[in-house]
Amino acid sequence: EKAGYKHFMQKEIHEQPRTISDTITGFSSSKNKELYNLLKKTERLYIIACGTSYHAGLVGKFWIEKYARIPVEVDYASEYRYRDRIINDRTVVLGISQSGETADTRFALLDAKKEGAKTVSLVNVVGSSLSRETDFVLYTYCGPEIGVAATKTFTAQLVSLLLFALEIGLEKGTLNFTDYDFIHHQLLHIPSRVEKILEKDGEIKELAHKYMNATDFLFLGRNINYPIALEGALKLKEISYIHAEGYPAGEMKHGPIALIDEKMPVVCVSPKDRFYEKIFSNIQEVKARKGQVISVATEGDERIKQVSDEVIYIPKTIDTLYPILTVIPLQMLSYHIATLLGKDVDQPRNLAKTVTVE
Ligand code: F6R
Repeated sequence: EKAGYKHFMQKEIHEQPRTISDTITGFSSSKNKELYNLLKKTERLYIIACGTSYHAGLVGKFWIEKYARIPVEVDYASEYRYRDRIINDRTVVLGISQSGETADTRFALLDAKKEGAKTVSLVNVVGSSLSRETDFVLYTYCGPEIGVAATKTFTAQLVSLLLFALEIGLEKGTLNFTDYDFIHHQLLHIPSRVEKILEKDGEIKELAHKYMNATDFLFLGRNINYPIALEGALKLKEISYIHAEGYPAGEMKHGPIALIDEKMPVVCVSPKDRFYEKIFSNIQEVKARKGQVISVATEGDERIKQVSDEVIYIPKTIDTLYPILTVIPLQMLSYHIATLLGKDVDQPRNLAKTVTVE
């Protein structure tokens, strides 16, 4: 069942080149004209989700605002349900849920629907409650995810959200065909780039060994990679039980920088995109306080070594696609730290794969 892997989580991490490519194919071949007609007229989009799916939503916001020019608000489903949200007939609520059964997400969507919003779900499980209860349904094409920690479904959610944003953009005319085509073409190269990162398993395991005894971790990122910092921290805490926090790198100086000393590993998601110089100076601030910097950087970036104790290199891609790559080494790092610590990564304590209670 585990196809030669020790754990489902490891198997699912390594399946990502295929699940990403299946999601590109699956999503592209199931366009719903009526849904895109609705989105052309949408004035406000709320994305609601929990946990890892919420982090996918945060990345999705960048893409939808950039390509589809619809204002997007992302909220935790458990919060959204009980706030005085503003809904009219031009409001769309998109719920993201791997299982399609998460109670918080389901009930928040049902409430919004009652108030007159159109609802859409993005799920991995065909026939799940969410898929039946919303007006429209979009899918990720991953096959079942067994490990409690979401991995392959997260990258597939990213792919679906990107394609969703591109499709709306094209329909609305806020994205031209040349740009659409260029991004789509680059996306098709992502599975082989993920493959290259997966080949670094031994290197990442060594790194995990070096840092496994830390009691706290900080994860930093900016812009579209900021949600990846949040996701890296969530993965680490849920399976290794090490305290970890994710922060937008620019926010660090407003508080969390006080935590940094020589015992604090700081994972910096710093690909060579248009925010590189910004995060580079944030990393210098960490280094000046003797934090131990582990950078996720773009191949060929030698300069990052000046401010890093460790560098995990990922292949180059276009700015917009980096989150799909940068999250991979963070999943691998958490996996190795947790297994080296002897934790049960597929069944972490206190957690269930599907949370059907509020
Ligand atoms: C984290 C994790 C959880 C889920 C969350 C939402 O690895 O798995 O945080 O992401 O419980 O689950 P779904 O996506 O099924 O609604």
